[in-house]
Parts: sequence; C-alpha cells; structure tokens
Amino acid sequence: MKDSLLKLLSCPSCGGDVRLSSVASADEARGWREIVEGELKCDACARGFPIRRGVPRFADFKEIEADKASTAENFGWQWRHFTQRDEQYAEQFLGWIAPVRPEFFRGKLVLEGGCGKGRHTRLAAEWGAREIVGVDLSDAVEVAYRETRDLANAHVVQADIYRLPLKRRAFDYAFSVGVLHHLPDPRAGFVALSKHVRAGGHLSAWVYGAENNEWITRYVSPVRERVTSRMSRGALLQLSKLPTAALFAATKLVYAPLNRSPLTQAFARRLFYNDYLNSLARFGWREQHTIVFDHLIAPTAFYVPRAEFEGWWRGIGADEVEIGWHNKSSWRGFGRVDGDGATDGERDRTG
Ligand SMILES: C[S@@+](CC[C@H](N)C(=O)[O-])C[C@H]1O[C@@H](n2cnc3c(N)ncnc32)[C@H](O)[C@@H]1O
Repeated sequence: MKDSLLKLLSCPSCGGDVRLSSVASADEARGWREIVEGELKCDACARGFPIRRGVPRFADFKEIEADKASTAENFGWQWRHFTQRDEQYAEQFLGWIAPVRPEFFRGKLVLEGGCGKGRHTRLAAEWGAREIVGVDLSDAVEVAYRETRDLANAHVVQADIYRLPLKRRAFDYAFSVGVLHHLPDPRAGFVALSKHVRAGGHLSAWVYGAENNEWITRYVSPVRERVTSRMSRGALLQLSKLPTAALFAATKLVYAPLNRSPLTQAFARRLFYNDYLNSLARFGWREQHTIVFDHLIAPTAFYVPRAEFEGWWRGIGADEVEIGWHNKSSWRGFGRVDGDGATDGERDRTG
C-alpha cells in the first residue's frame, strides 16, 4: 500500500478518517513508501484494519454474508490460477466501457469496483489516471497487487463493494466490469459505487443481459448453481476443458473464418450467438478456458433486462446516459453522475 492512498480512505464502519497506526515492514526502493505489513486505524471508532502483503484489508470474513463469501472464494481461486496477461485485454476492456477511450483516463481519480486480477487497474494506470483504486472482495487482490505494484498511481484494496472504505464523492470516474451481476443485489452494488463519484463525474458499468441469453438462464444457470459452482475448483478446472475445446474449435474453425470473408459474412450473422462467439475467436486457448471457467464458477449470476438496467441509471439521477447492447448479449452503460446521487427510494422518502 502506498502512503498516497491514505487521503482517499474512510472507515467502512463509521465513515471516520483512517490513519496509519503501525508499520511492520515497508519498501522504499521505487521512490515511494510501499507499506507491506502494518495496520490502519479509524480515528473515530478506533477500528483497526490490517495491511497484509501490501494490501489494506477492510473485509472481515466473519461479518460477510455466506453468499458473498462463497462468490469471493470462487473468484479468488479463479484469478489466482488464471494470472496470465493477454494482449487483447485493452480492446476487450474498451468494448465493455465504450464510449470511454484511453484518453478519458488522463489526470482522473478513478475507482474500479471488483478489480479481479487487476488487468484493468493496470491499463487505467498506464492510460494516465492520476490515481486508480482497484477494490475486490476476494484473494484476487494478491494477484492485482503484484500486477500493479510497480505503478506509482495504482492502489489495490480488499473490501466489499457495498461498504467501500473510501471517501464519498471523491472520484472523477468509477467503473465496474463483470461484477455487479454476481452480487446478491446488483442494483445496490451499482448505487454503492455511484456514491463515490463526485458531482459531474462519470460512471461505467457492464452487466450480463437477460435478452438473448434465455438459453443460458434456462439450461446453463441451473447446472452452474447446483453443480459447477459447488464442485471442487480443481475438478471444475479439468471438466471445463471439455466445453472450452468445443468453444475453441467452433470459434477458430467456423465463426472466425465465416465472419472474416465478405462472401460468408451475411451467413455468419445468422449463426447462433454470432457476435459474442466471434468476439471470442481472437483469444487463444488459455483465455477461452478462463472465460468458460468464469461462467461456471460463480454461485450467483443475474441476467439483467435492459429496462431494469436503465432504471439503475435513472435511480441515481445520472444524465447523458448511454446504454449499449454489447455483442448482443450484455449491457454496458456510461453516464454522468449528478450532485446528490440519490436513489429513487431516497428521493421518495425525502419528497
Ligand atoms: C468476473 S470477475 C471480474 C473481475 C474484473 N472486473 C475483470 O473483468 O477482470 C468478478 C469479480 O468481482 C469480485 N466481487 C464479487 N463480489 C464482490 C463484492 N461484494 N465486493 C467486491 N468485489 C466483489 C470477485 O471477487 C471477482 O474478482
């Protein structure tokens, strides 16, 4: 953890200021102080939060609900196994956060809700974010920290998105990619994230869509919920190679060639799930295996209808909202957060 993160922290229990109460080990080799082991303390309620292996830990798993904990456990395992970098990540990320482009990050204070192994944290830092804070509930933070430790403007924090240990209304831009639909209440996670964006700042979110995914919700989700998310991760790793082999063959031998040739593109557009499967054709085996595993490991996954997603943005009072159907299978949203950021419920209560 870099000293420079301190100014952004706030106690997740009471909102008080958080300070560094002890440092057991630190590293100054790169020109800044990296606290590797130590403790943070809230000035107001005196609650302590450890810094372990370079990451401040605000998630107390004795207090985290069982469904959230099992989601975190599974994804923690996933990202500690699939640690690879892929040169396609930048393009893929830009697809999820469109219309945002790399220049948009320049000079901004950025928050990432659910950073996983830190692949997007790193990109945002490299694209010139003034600082980026990647937050994740799971042990994936160990990988995210390793991935970004050399960057002076990147921070990684272990915390629950519903109780972010960060100053409210402090960030110029927040984004969350592939996380909200894995929360027990996706909309509440979206609202929690939005509360950390300053008035006039921006927010991006990408979630699975309900539309065009009925085959998943009908046939795949019951298997995921009852079998694959509960089996041993090692066994799932092996089992998931079977659907990955089918995906790999279909994308490389059918979807990519048919979409590439002008003579067959019209036909390709009529293929099952063409936009999504063709988008996966650019990836090699390891990345496709990660994607298949990712779809089977999550205990919780909601498929969000467009109308509901639009309601999330209306609820926080966002304006200039752009919602797009990504690969005809998921929703991405980008909007400007207004001053009060209240939810519909809060507006109703306050009249
Ligand atoms: C599918 S992964 C996406 C990770 C990253 N955004 C990416 O695209 O590489 C979902 C991530 O959400 C995290 N997550 C799940 N529930 C969370 C919560 N309550 N608070 C913070 N992160 C959470 C998981 O640990 C996991 O790393």
